[in-house]
Amino acid sequence: MSAVGTQGTVRFPEGFLWGVATAAFQVEGSTTADGRSPSIWDAFCEKEGAVAGGDTGEPATDHYRRMPADVALMRDLGIRAYRFSVAWPRVRPDGGEVNPAGLDFYERLVDTLLEAGIKPWPTLYHWDLPQALEERGGWPSREVAHRFADYAEAVVDRLGDRVSTWTTLNEPWCSAFLGYGSGRHAPGRRDPRAAVAAAHHLLLAHGLGTAAVRARVPDAEVGVTLNLFPVNVADPDDPGDAEVARRVDGLQNRLFLDPVLRARYPEDVVADLEPFGFTDVVRDGDEAVIGASLDFLGVNYYRDLYVSSAPEHARPMPEWVGVERVSFPKRGLPQTASGWDVNAGELTGLLLRLHTEYPRLPLYITENGVAFPDDREVDGRIDDTDRIAFVEGHLRAAHSALEQGVDLRGYFYWSLLDNFEWAEGYAKRFGLVHVDYETQRRTPKASAAWYSRVIADNGLAG
Ligand code: NOJ
Repeated sequence: MSAVGTQGTVRFPEGFLWGVATAAFQVEGSTTADGRSPSIWDAFCEKEGAVAGGDTGEPATDHYRRMPADVALMRDLGIRAYRFSVAWPRVRPDGGEVNPAGLDFYERLVDTLLEAGIKPWPTLYHWDLPQALEERGGWPSREVAHRFADYAEAVVDRLGDRVSTWTTLNEPWCSAFLGYGSGRHAPGRRDPRAAVAAAHHLLLAHGLGTAAVRARVPDAEVGVTLNLFPVNVADPDDPGDAEVARRVDGLQNRLFLDPVLRARYPEDVVADLEPFGFTDVVRDGDEAVIGASLDFLGVNYYRDLYVSSAPEHARPMPEWVGVERVSFPKRGLPQTASGWDVNAGELTGLLLRLHTEYPRLPLYITENGVAFPDDREVDGRIDDTDRIAFVEGHLRAAHSALEQGVDLRGYFYWSLLDNFEWAEGYAKRFGLVHVDYETQRRTPKASAAWYSRVIADNGLAG
């Protein structure tokens, strides 16, 4: 674990981009407005027991209708960039014809952001595949990658004159393995072969989408956001532990990093996935498409993974992990409401690994954030000191990587608002701004004022 100072003034480089992030399905609501069609998440929410509390994408934070006020709130906090996602089911509702009314919303959003001096940072795919495309096979079907490129074209045709930075996908690991493997996320399928095919087709969609953006806006900056996990083991000299670490790192990190940044799937992971038909779906030339040059990599960091092959407390693993049971020993670290260990220092190591092991390109932390159990409104105030400490720890870890030469260009807190936390529903609150879901009243938490000061100071006070 890298040592990170817990005190002392730190300043970030001039021009460091301070932002906040959301995603369409998690905040927008208005799921039937202006020609939007159902996404896989609308369908998934209808399934008994799929989402905690039976929560759905309605009304979420009603951001679709409250967008101008939300942008004003960001402006007042001094936020410099807003990472949002465009909803495919608004833009090409059944995956087919373009719906201009759906694009109008994003055009208004971009214009409102630009007027407020906030950089728009759109992501084209944050998990809301049109249900009609799922019915045609979903991500396990190669056709969907091509439909993604058509959809990207439609968005860039409308916004490319005002948006200079584009992200193709958010966390394709989740879409593939939670969506089609464990079934924990939409569309809720449990089929390892489908998961593995989905992973490849998502990556192919990233490559085809990148080409589509560049064809229309040659000087656009294009990147992808991956959820990356430092993987640590109880005993690196134990062959069992080392194999577990290799497997987990292969599936969570290298399966995505290597094709995107080196235009080649890692050989060991390809071999591990062979029983699930991986090489059947990868065609000649695909890796070159996936590995087309990029302008930046987005890193979502929430936690590290600490694993062991020891039998005590071992949990059964899905078959594609290739080891039957893995244990996740407790380290006595503080935990978030999501049950994740808080381990900020590992962010430094992750950024350094990207810097030293992969072709260098600018990095952005496109998500880092937390839900804590005690995040409650008391007398109109939310004194979320745990969140402040969490973010401060991660910013210090990021700064330590900068000091060691990593080309880190920005940080986006997840999330601006409390929102729909996927299978966890609305109970987990990640926002800098509290949302009362009955009234849709927004109440900035103490962390919002704190983050605003960090931005104004471009750093942390000692
Ligand atoms: C990653 C996802 O991109 C985002 O949608 C989610 O809400 C956060 N992590 C928190 O789990």
